[in-house]
Amino acid sequence: MNTNPEITGTTKLCGVMGDPVGHSVSPAMHNAAFRALGLDYAYLPFRVRREDLPAALQGMRALNIRGLNVTIPHKVALLPLLDEIDTLALQIGAVNVLLNDCGRLSGYNTDAQGFLRMLTGNGVDPQGKNVVVLGAGGAARAISFALASRGASLTILNRTAAPAQACAADISRAFSLSIKVLDLNRESLAHALQQASLLVNATSVGMSPQADATPVDLELLGPNITVVDIVYNPYKSRLLKEAEQASARTINGLEMLVWQGALAFEIWTGGQPPLNVMRQAATAALKSYEK
Ligand code: ATR
Repeated sequence: MNTNPEITGTTKLCGVMGDPVGHSVSPAMHNAAFRALGLDYAYLPFRVRREDLPAALQGMRALNIRGLNVTIPHKVALLPLLDEIDTLALQIGAVNVLLNDCGRLSGYNTDAQGFLRMLTGNGVDPQGKNVVVLGAGGAARAISFALASRGASLTILNRTAAPAQACAADISRAFSLSIKVLDLNRESLAHALQQASLLVNATSVGMSPQADATPVDLELLGPNITVVDIVYNPYKSRLLKEAEQASARTINGLEMLVWQGALAFEIWTGGQPPLNVMRQAATAALKSYEK
């Protein structure tokens, strides 16, 4: 154990790989966790463009980077590039955590569990609920899978049809249920939201620096729906602000980030994640971005 927080010749490196990563609070969250437990680890952001993904994975092997979080836009694209994929991540079709064991890269998914922990923590049980999921990327796949596993009825809306169809087909197969797929536009949103009690934004719409964007018009929101936004930066996205105005219940995605990060920490270090330290560090980092 290294109680000295300085980087040494034996420090193990972890990080987050995505594009953009400039507003990520994961470095603050994980470095605080390593420091709190006196672990000889450090965590850095790596901006990796879509076309550089294969080179980045080779770099991870060559530089012996111990673990990475994976975010937009790589969670689905990296699957064929890995040496091993954990069963859950394979079923979900998305990887958000990488572990490097002597050059062998294994992929895991902690988003699904992180999302469920966030829901449970807010007293929301998806069983039997009509849920509208916006998006069909890596995060949406994990969230849709998690919701289906807990007995929700899903409608997936996405800007592009093909990934939404593929996501729905994979989940339908895993749980033998039917999932509705619609284009993401005002008309289909209005239709889907009429019957829904839970709305989850799993797109990146509204994320800083495009914080004035929202995927759903205010007029479509009302008091009978709970709105979850996985965009946590800004802390209160335009979608969540407008949902509040419409008297809807709102849940911010920061708690999902903390839980998926805690589960990643366990995979990399084998140790118990200091959840409160991580939560506080992530919140403080967000506040400092918003100043
Ligand atoms: P993540 O890993 O966070 O899921 P991703 O796999 O790149 O990131 O997925 C991003 C999601 O946000 C996708 O559903 C994407 O829609 P497309 O499949 O049509 O690309 C959605 N998204 C991103 N920008 C969007 C925008 N401006 N309007 C609507 N949807 C958007």
